[in-house]
Amino acid sequence: MQILVIGSGGREHALAWKMAQSPKVSKIWAAPGNAGIGELAECVNISASDIRLLADHAERKRIDLTIVGPEVPLTLGIVDEFERRSLRIFGPSHDAAILEGSKVFAKTLMKKHQIPTGFYQTFSRAEDAKRYIHEVGAPIVVKADGLAAGKGAMVCLEVSEALDAVKKVMEERVFGDAGSKIVIEEYLEGEEASFLAFADGETVLPMASSQDHKRVFDNDQGPNTGGMGAYSPAPVVTEVIYQHIMERVMIPTVKGMAEEGRRYKGVLYAGLMIRAGEIKVLEFNARFGDPEAQPLLVRMKSDLVPVLEAVVEGRLRDQTIEWRSDASVCVVMASRGYPGPYEKGNPISGLREAAAEPGVMVFHAGTTRKNDQVLTAGGRVLGVTARGPDIQHAISSAYRAVKKISWEGAHYRTDIGARALARVS
Ligand code: AMP
Ligand code: GLY
Repeated sequence: MQILVIGSGGREHALAWKMAQSPKVSKIWAAPGNAGIGELAECVNISASDIRLLADHAERKRIDLTIVGPEVPLTLGIVDEFERRSLRIFGPSHDAAILEGSKVFAKTLMKKHQIPTGFYQTFSRAEDAKRYIHEVGAPIVVKADGLAAGKGAMVCLEVSEALDAVKKVMEERVFGDAGSKIVIEEYLEGEEASFLAFADGETVLPMASSQDHKRVFDNDQGPNTGGMGAYSPAPVVTEVIYQHIMERVMIPTVKGMAEEGRRYKGVLYAGLMIRAGEIKVLEFNARFGDPEAQPLLVRMKSDLVPVLEAVVEGRLRDQTIEWRSDASVCVVMASRGYPGPYEKGNPISGLREAAAEPGVMVFHAGTTRKNDQVLTAGGRVLGVTARGPDIQHAISSAYRAVKKISWEGAHYRTDIGARALARVS
């Protein structure tokens, strides 16, 4: 089979790496890819959002299966475009990807189908939103309705901050049309976890649990990022919580989407807050998490390709996935300045030495190759991922590898996995 991976992050490198191990796969293409993906796949310079050109490429090269990494092409309807041309593609349709593309839609669906989430109100007029904030007070969370590259959720500890957030999103339109509506929701406390599952419109096949570290600095300080690291399994997701998540969130969501006439196929990702055994949904994503995909895919023992095919063909019911019983950790190394404006073009050294560490995979995100050198080309640059017999060993291996890598201005968190360690020890 020929596979096309769409995207250019660490998630897509991990997907390409996993599928390259499948006996079913003869060739992998990537659009646009990065330096690491280029070692496994032929990269073509088409943007992940150029859905027509991507479909042309898949047609011309007779690609057997396309897998979409990021959310933007999904919400633009890449799956619909491919299906219209009878091309096989893994991911939710335009009408199903709205679960990530509109926070108002997601909240309304949850309310209608009694899926646990914080209380909320939606607004399309700034003055109404501001009045509501005065009424309910702080802390409170203000969210732009549409996609905002992971920056659309603002946790506001003071009323003034929340009013300011409404002004930025609705009046100044810092996220463009994504801010024409907003959700104002309850501030939830607890421990976050990511729960990802495959869905074929009907059947839900869960993945192992994982947890992301969203803040840029140690001890969850500083601004939110796309994710500075992740690990799997997440001990906060006990066996009981796992069952609750399946029964109260994942299955009702897929069922609810089907009832709405929006069959959900692909990866369903629920961002959850867990407190004293209670789970609440913070958000849904319509794709693999990045960086959660990295620690998850290194723990997946089964071949990924038959699972993707079963989703596309609506026969997930007969599918199982085997997970390794060990643990994995991914430490993201980022460019100076990230998550703000960041530097690019710095040469990276030590990649080979890091990859030689036992159980370590260095997944590339924002990298590019120039002659013989790998240069930084994005905010999140690498996802150094390690497996180990337990979380402690995985953490130690990942950081041993991280210390071998350097470039001007590289930064990373030194406490990835620490919360898991505290729970298991
Ligand atoms: P989201 O884009 O909705 O996942 O939000 C990004 C991050 O903001 C989450 O991972 C949480 O850390 C935080 N967050 C979002 N919603 C809430 C909430 N209702 N209560 C507390 N924190 C939240
Ligand atoms: N790691 C969070 C996300 O993929 O949205």
